[in-house]
Amino acid sequence: MENRLYPNLILEALKNVRYPGNGKNIVEAQMVADDIRIDGNKVSFSLVFEKPTDPFAKSLVKAAEAALKTFVGEFVEPTVSMTFLKQTPAAVKNVLPGVKNIIGVSSGKGGVGKSTVSSNLAVALAREGYKVGLLDADIFGPSVPKMFGVEDEQVYMHEVDGRPLIIPVERYGVKMLSIGFLVDRNSAVLWRGGMASNALKQLIEEADWGELDYFLIDMPPGTSDIHLTLVQTLAITGVVVVTTPQEVALADARKGISMFVGDKVNVPVLGLVENMAWFTPEKHPDEKYYIFGNGGGCRLAQEAGVPLLAQIPLVGSVCSGGDAGAPVALDGDTITGNAFAHLAHEVIDAVQKRNDTLPATVKVDVGKR
Ligand SMILES: Nc1ncnc2c1ncn2[C@@H]1O[C@H](COP(=O)(O)OP(=O)(O)O)[C@@H](O)[C@H]1O
Ligand SMILES: [Mg+2]
Repeated sequence: MENRLYPNLILEALKNVRYPGNGKNIVEAQMVADDIRIDGNKVSFSLVFEKPTDPFAKSLVKAAEAALKTFVGEFVEPTVSMTFLKQTPAAVKNVLPGVKNIIGVSSGKGGVGKSTVSSNLAVALAREGYKVGLLDADIFGPSVPKMFGVEDEQVYMHEVDGRPLIIPVERYGVKMLSIGFLVDRNSAVLWRGGMASNALKQLIEEADWGELDYFLIDMPPGTSDIHLTLVQTLAITGVVVVTTPQEVALADARKGISMFVGDKVNVPVLGLVENMAWFTPEKHPDEKYYIFGNGGGCRLAQEAGVPLLAQIPLVGSVCSGGDAGAPVALDGDTITGNAFAHLAHEVIDAVQKRNDTLPATVKVDVGKR
């Protein structure tokens, strides 16, 4: 896609606009609200002023619009609105009211790279300036804290409007919580169903996720009570299904897809990610060895009628990066860094397309089961 717009690009351009009241640029002066929305070439956001009588308000809106056309491109169609601190609208009471898109990352079986994909996708989106949250809901093997190097992190609470809320751990621009923080890593799987579901609900409803563009959930593999809890608690925008190219994995991925498509549970499948699509030796980045077979992900995607969002190569650094707590998506121009940046773009497009064509997801009603 040409002319791709993303929040950091917009912010860079807006740094060229100065607020005459204090001489600072409007980004530095924190006058650009957290509500940047991008839809194709259309960009909307608001500028925050102290009071409605601000003498510079109108001219600043014009200047911001002009800056986008000058520094980003004539093609940009900006809509800049004004908000005033003196009159804040009452927030709607809703689960995760500040979250725009909730994306489940799922797989038919374990070990296919679901957590690797979730973590790197989160980092790749954050690198583009999106606000990203990641919830590790895999009670069978919560591994996201290790991949972010925050395994031993202490989780704190604070009060928001009189309610105590868990503060997500922030690393690489991603807000993260894991079921692994609440329980010993090796015993989570032994929890009775209800306990794990309650813990998970707590991580969703009683945590301070704030404003997010993308809230990713690393779901357990296969089907479980946890899946049911998630679709009952949250209106999931869509799911991304991760598979590897082997026939056995594809068969499980097929079941993984069908779990979301039905009468009771009806969550759009954004697409498939084929992980370990081929092996590439780090010293020979141009070589591809199809050690698990070739074309499996593509065939499954066609058969299931969902897009193949990306193929991620099997590269040693993906594994070592995960073990070291530094996801490879942090790296710039490498095969793996590029693969996850590409996946992030595909997910952004798929979410946009889904939101343009389908109604909002409805939470699964417990009574309907
Ligand atoms: N593309 C890849 N290249 C190299 N190693 C990978 C790749 N994807 C996953 N791995 C490694 O495979 C193992 C399983 O991946 P993980 O993301 O934990 O799977 P899951 O969450 O599906 O159980 C991890 O050690 C991970 O580092
Ligand atoms: Mg995992």
